[in-house]
Amino acid sequence: MSEQLTESALIDRFGRRVNYVRMSITDRCDFRCVYCMDEEMTFMPREQLLSLEEIVLLLSAFAELGVEKIRITGGEPLVRHGVDWLFQELGELKKTTGLKELTITSNGSQLPKYAGSLVSSGVDRINISLDSLQAARFKALTRTGDLNRVLAGIKAAKAAGFKRIKLNAVIMKRRNEDEIVDLAQFAIQNDLDISYIEEMPLGHVTHSRGESYCSSDEVKAALDSEFDLIASSANTGGPSRYYQIAGSSSKVGFISPHSHNFCESCNRVRVTTEGRLLLCLGQEHSVDLRAVMREHPGDKVKLKQAIIDSMDIKPKGHDFNVEAQPIIFRHMSVTGG
Ligand code: GTP
Ligand code: 5AD
Ligand code: SF4
Repeated sequence: MSEQLTESALIDRFGRRVNYVRMSITDRCDFRCVYCMDEEMTFMPREQLLSLEEIVLLLSAFAELGVEKIRITGGEPLVRHGVDWLFQELGELKKTTGLKELTITSNGSQLPKYAGSLVSSGVDRINISLDSLQAARFKALTRTGDLNRVLAGIKAAKAAGFKRIKLNAVIMKRRNEDEIVDLAQFAIQNDLDISYIEEMPLGHVTHSRGESYCSSDEVKAALDSEFDLIASSANTGGPSRYYQIAGSSSKVGFISPHSHNFCESCNRVRVTTEGRLLLCLGQEHSVDLRAVMREHPGDKVKLKQAIIDSMDIKPKGHDFNVEAQPIIFRHMSVTGG
């Protein structure tokens, strides 16, 4: 670790300690979920992406600055070539830095191939998106996805031995709100946790976000009619508020950026596919870390200083408004959620 840059270096103007980085390693995906992508997407030219070596350098700098949790996201991270090498390198970081948790968010489609190597590289937890258990509807929501493949992916993840698997379901009016209870039943039967997510207005999509918006309170009311939900103090370091489902090992989480804002306890930053350090999911404040790495190759001190300096521009919070046109034009797939 560098002499002059110490562990508690990442504290912003509001006293929030940043100990969690979400890194998007590709904006590409084999699905086109309606809330995430437009029907026609233009993906980033490959040369604009950070190389896998640059990603390792960057994440090692964060780990040396006191980051304890890294989540690899996308797009679909497992469609990036060389992803198994990347995870091996990141697994090594857990042995040499204060990094405690290596996690991934995936759509599940590639897990039959990768689940085993992710676990052996040291990935602790996985979150898998699952918005419907009905094959035709799943296809409609993802535009290209195959439900059976994702179910096989979930099975493979269980067999590989992840410590805990969490499903993510974005609930939309008239699309899948009638499956809230079915998804929870599936989680209970398979010994999984599940988070219900309020849709966020990131990037242009084909439907009206205002009309599809379903609040966490509505989701919780549907669950309350079937299950006994016991408020839990569980905290994964993410934005979910958790409840234990009585009589089961499953937890239910609610990610409610609109109805229960969690910005005041924000502990995270994200890095986009092209190396832009984003200080908030819902704002544009950013630092071009790719430029720093390419102007000063191998100079980790400069890189760390740029990360430390970025704390001065971390905004207080987002200004999401589901009724308005998107004020954030980047899609979730670039940002990594
Ligand atoms: P764990 O708590 O570690 O399980 O992860 P997580 O739920 O934070 O991560 P995941 O990648 O599964 O993301 C679930 C949802 O939470 C996605 O829709 C993310 O966009 C959303 N999310 C994560 N962090 C933030 C945040 O800081 N702000 C907002 N508005 N949404 C977030
Ligand atoms: N709003 C809320 N959640 C979204 N996701 C993707 N796009 C959006 C959006 N606009 C979710 C995916 C995945 C997680 C990383 O983010 O379903 O589970
Ligand atoms: Fe792909 Fe995930 Fe976006 Fe769906 S939400 S299109 S699976 S990146």
